[in-house]
Amino acid sequence: MRTRRTARTIIAAFATVLLTGGVAACGNSDTGDTGGGDDNIVLGFSQVGAESGWRTANTSSIKAAAAEASIELKFDDAQQKQENQIRAIRNFIQQKVDVIAFSPVVESGWDTVLKEAKDAGIPVILTDRAVDSADKTLYKTFLGSDFVKEGRLSGEWLVEHTRSATGPVNIVELQGTTGSAPANDRKKGFAEAISANPNLKIIASQSGDFTRAGGKQVMEQFLKANPDIDVLFAHNDDMGLGAVEAITAAGKTPGKDIVIVTIDAVKDGMQALADGKFNFIAECSPLLGPQLMDLVKKIHAGEQVPARIETEETTFTQEQAKEALPNRKY
Ligand code: AHR
Repeated sequence: MRTRRTARTIIAAFATVLLTGGVAACGNSDTGDTGGGDDNIVLGFSQVGAESGWRTANTSSIKAAAAEASIELKFDDAQQKQENQIRAIRNFIQQKVDVIAFSPVVESGWDTVLKEAKDAGIPVILTDRAVDSADKTLYKTFLGSDFVKEGRLSGEWLVEHTRSATGPVNIVELQGTTGSAPANDRKKGFAEAISANPNLKIIASQSGDFTRAGGKQVMEQFLKANPDIDVLFAHNDDMGLGAVEAITAAGKTPGKDIVIVTIDAVKDGMQALADGKFNFIAECSPLLGPQLMDLVKKIHAGEQVPARIETEETTFTQEQAKEALPNRKY
């Protein structure tokens, strides 16, 4: 806020001079920036919602890191609706925040509002999810995971796990929010990887919107329509956990009768993996707060930042989950 506040301070000082007719007041202002060390940065952050354990951990990480970095955070929860995110971004522009960051609920439809931010001179950072804008000057950087890779790692594990299968392996897929980058990319990466074995077939694929309730409801439908499901690939832990309830209610054993592969590695997911209800998880780290605040400071200071910053991630088997669980932060 330094530039705007300094400008406001100068205007106020000038008005004082005019009102009092005193030139001496001007001569006294020898302290330079009368903002007096006021380097407060205001960050407007539009969050997707609170749809999953991952999202809750991501929100906590962002709030804690902002407080730690002494960045003033204006936080908005869009409840998984793009129109709410667009409204929040417009509010941030009106409030003249220094930097806007957001995790776009879906990939497309952002150009107009991003152009408005650019015209207002407010830099934008994408966190967690990408947009499909052709104009890359509409945002400064994208900090987040490689979702295609997460899907590919999940598929590669399954190819290895089913290597000895002689007949067809029937897979059902619980997709994330329709049109979101993680749903599009994880689907793509997984499909690419399983194409290595023609026995592996996705027999049903539908969105569970990244929620536990959605995962349960769609899995119930899958189970009714398909008596021979061998594998579930869920685009996140929460949908996998909802599906576990549906599978158990249908009299089957999750992790044994139906192999379950998910993405995220939040605590509940890791617990399910350690308990043998899940079989494999590709990690997606929600702890983006500290890196985001670093970027906010750099961009506010006019420094160049890389166009893409990828989060470091790993994968977990059941044994690895047992080892990692005690120290899991989220
Ligand atoms: O964009 C990240 C994804 O969004 C996480 O995998 C999922 O759990 C969340 O809702």
